[in-house]
Amino acid sequence: MIERHYHLIYTGLNNPVSVAKRIIYYGNAKVQMEKPASISQLLANLSDLPAMPEVAQKVLALIRNPKTNMTEIGQILSLDQSLALLVLRWANSAYYGLRQPVTTVNQAVIVLGQQAVRNVILASTVASMMDRPLKGYALDKGDLWKHSIAVAGAAREIAKDKGFQLAEEAYTSGLLADIGKLALESLIRDIDLSTPEWKDKAFSDLEEQYFGIDHAILGAELARRWNLPPRLLDAIAHHHEPEKSKEGRSLAYAVHLADYVIMMLGIGIGRDGLQYHLDPSAIDFYDFSDQTIEKLSEIIPSFIEESDSMIRAISV
Ligand SMILES: [Fe+2]
Repeated sequence: MIERHYHLIYTGLNNPVSVAKRIIYYGNAKVQMEKPASISQLLANLSDLPAMPEVAQKVLALIRNPKTNMTEIGQILSLDQSLALLVLRWANSAYYGLRQPVTTVNQAVIVLGQQAVRNVILASTVASMMDRPLKGYALDKGDLWKHSIAVAGAAREIAKDKGFQLAEEAYTSGLLADIGKLALESLIRDIDLSTPEWKDKAFSDLEEQYFGIDHAILGAELARRWNLPPRLLDAIAHHHEPEKSKEGRSLAYAVHLADYVIMMLGIGIGRDGLQYHLDPSAIDFYDFSDQTIEKLSEIIPSFIEESDSMIRAISV
């Protein structure tokens, strides 16, 4: 066993802190880091991060501003025909259950609200990033994307009794929960995980052990760079350990339960899926039952199909 010590600069979610991490390499692990690893270095693995369209960036900036009204958002969105069409189709999707379909972008953004408009934009931005195969996690092409939209939809469904806005934020948190995997997967490829010490360990513990950070914290850091609110970052960072969450507690529990159910349903399940540990306190937090699981298993497949076709229509 080779032991190496690295200092990992953790910029934190709200308050910058520095922590020293010990990273242990087992057996024939080929992971090599010549210099201290930092979140920036790990995020540099996201070399194929697609540029967000200008209109999308402007809309996200408008949403961050509390003084923005929906008309302004509608006007900017109308400048990008593909995004405008996507927002229109999203508002007319089954989830919002409109009696009369909306026909203009302005009507669509009013139906959706700011959080859902942000979801449409983020989903269309991350779709191509998440669509690729992730060999390190044994995920085939399309697996991470399907898993992520399924978790997003299930988290929104689980959280919706707590309010429309919270449900849409649960969607965002679920959508981005595993995005950190994109940065770790090439490093995980060469690690031998068949050794007994990893058999029953949660996969995020393994990531933490090898890299000093897990995909959840790394994903939150990426989301911070997109200026998402702290409660969403908290939920993404703690979606495997919701009891550690603070301001994003309701979101973290919704994503954790959604992730578990989607893993159980075998949607986009990789090598980490078999080592998923459910936090039992999540069941009480949302009064989760077999009926909820049944309901989710009924609605999620068509939800994935609908979202996937809408987003792919503008991605090609
Ligand atoms: Fe995860």
